[in-house]
Amino acid sequence: MTAKRIDGKAKAEQLAEAIKAQTAVLLKDHGIRPGLAVVIIGEDPASQIYVRNKKRRAEACGFHSVQHTLDENVSQADVLGLIDELNNDDAIHGILVQLPLPDHLDEQTITQSILPSKDVDGFHFVNIGKLTAGHTQDAFVPCTPAGCILMIEDELGPDFSGKNAVIIGRSNIVGKPMASLLMQRNATITVTHSRTSDLPSVVRNADIVVAAVGRPDMVKADWIKPGAVVIDVGINRVEKTIDGETKSRLTGDVDYDDVCRVASAVTPVPGGVGPMTITMLMSNTLRSARLSAGLPG
Ligand code: GUN
Repeated sequence: MTAKRIDGKAKAEQLAEAIKAQTAVLLKDHGIRPGLAVVIIGEDPASQIYVRNKKRRAEACGFHSVQHTLDENVSQADVLGLIDELNNDDAIHGILVQLPLPDHLDEQTITQSILPSKDVDGFHFVNIGKLTAGHTQDAFVPCTPAGCILMIEDELGPDFSGKNAVIIGRSNIVGKPMASLLMQRNATITVTHSRTSDLPSVVRNADIVVAAVGRPDMVKADWIKPGAVVIDVGINRVEKTIDGETKSRLTGDVDYDDVCRVASAVTPVPGGVGPMTITMLMSNTLRSARLSAGLPG
């Protein structure tokens, strides 16, 4: 079997077109332009690329897009002061503080200071609680798992009854919310992590595999049940030397070429989960703008 390549980039483009059209209608009919504020602290090169892509996509969707770039050594009080301003700014419907933060800043205090109604990352405990309780109508769902679910639905339809899903990684950003979303669609879930014994044999039971651990090319073909759908959330930068020349490239947590021999569909890296994550951020921001005007999300 040669697996289908799930084209997250093309799907993200399509969805972004729909978001752009709905944004134009919201502006025309209600005079509201969705506003997204992205806060980046320090010089982490990967974060800078992600933030630049988010800003570009927001502008392409017709949003009001602002970026706050803060010095690596900014004080926690100054970060909280900026978030307070953004919480009170009617032109801003979504606030995102790019992670990871420098060590001296407290991630929990900062993410929990964003108003739940502007928390388009879905990291606030109010949004996490609503997601866990299955109350997604007025919750913001974290963007990466939200994008993964749409790609899995394209392969399996909206109901995953009878399917086993194995999530590799138990992070708050991906693994835990992914489990809630898969469970809501009636999949049977196993969340694995660094203390799981015999991980390959656990993954071999899965009809749906979501890999989010940050270990380059870890998941191999002999871990995969024939016909499984494999979603690769990993974005790892690796150095490879070919003919004496060392080059840096991106790779996922899944050995793509190997796994394609067994799975039915696999997301590539790059071009799979990453673009969908950014588009789901736009979707959450549009939704926040609509909800702020009393319109259905
Ligand atoms: N860093 C890596 N992924 C994310 C994300 O989804 N949101 C934020 N705020 N930071 C991240």
